[in-house]
Amino acid sequence: MARVRTGSVAALLPAAGSGTRLGRGPKAFVEVAGASLLARSVACLAPLVDEVIVALPEGLALPGGLPARAVPGGPTRQESVRRLLEATGAGVVLVHDAARPFLPSRVVREVAAAAREVGAATAALPVADTLVRAGEGGGWGGLVPREGLWAVQTPQGFRRDTLAHAHERALAEGFTATDDAGLVARLGGEVALVPGDARLFKVTTPGDLALAHAVALLWDAGGDDA
Ligand code: CTP
Ligand code: MG
Repeated sequence: MARVRTGSVAALLPAAGSGTRLGRGPKAFVEVAGASLLARSVACLAPLVDEVIVALPEGLALPGGLPARAVPGGPTRQESVRRLLEATGAGVVLVHDAARPFLPSRVVREVAAAAREVGAATAALPVADTLVRAGEGGGWGGLVPREGLWAVQTPQGFRRDTLAHAHERALAEGFTATDDAGLVARLGGEVALVPGDARLFKVTTPGDLALAHAVALLWDAGGDDA
C-alpha cells in the first residue's frame, strides 16, 4: 500500500473493462467529441481530489498528459477496484466508473462529504419509469412498485478502511457484486444515497454512445451547468 495519508481523498477509476456490449474495443479509450471516456472522467475528478488512480486493461498504457497514475486492472470490476484500493493510502476514496464521462462537481462534493460522515455513500437517482417483471413467455408479468426504488450510479465514496474491509470479506467469501456500495451494505454497513444526475449514465451500448455525443456538445460548452 502507498503511504497512509488519512486526510486526503483519492479518486479510483476502474477502466479495465473490454467494452463487449459497446463493441468498440476497450471502452475507456473510446472517444466522444475528441476526448476519451477515460480522459473525460479524469478531468471531472482531478481538480477535486488529491490523486487519481486508474485501473487499465493489461498491456495498455495511460495516455500522456492525464493527471493520474495507473495500475493493472483485474479480470472483474471488483478485482480492478481491489487493486486500486491497494494502491492508495488516502483516508477517503471515490470509486467512479470511467464509463460515466459526465460527472458534475456537485455530485463529487456531496458523495465525498457523505462518505466522511457515514462511512459509505453512493450517487443514485429515484427510478422514474414504470417497472415490470417479465413473465415466463417474455411478456408483461407483473408490476414492480417503483416507490422507494433508486437506480445506483457512481461515484461511490467510502472511508478507505470501510471499503477495504468489505472487499476483503467479499474475496474471502467468494461474493461478487457489480458495485462497491453493495459490498458494504451486505455486511450491514450504512450507505448514504446522494442525489445523482441524469448525465451520469453509464456508456454501455451503442445507443448510450450516441447519447454521449449529444450530451458532450452541451457539456463541453457549459461544463457542470450544461
Ligand atoms: N471494469 C474494470 N475491470 C474489469 C471490468 C470492468 O475496471 N475487469 C470497469 C470498466 O472499464 C468500466 C466499469 O468497470 O469503467 C463498469 O463496467 P462495464 O460498464 O461493464 O464496462 P465493460 O466491462 O468494459 O463493458 P462490458 O461489460 O460490456 O464488456
Ligand atoms: Mg462489464
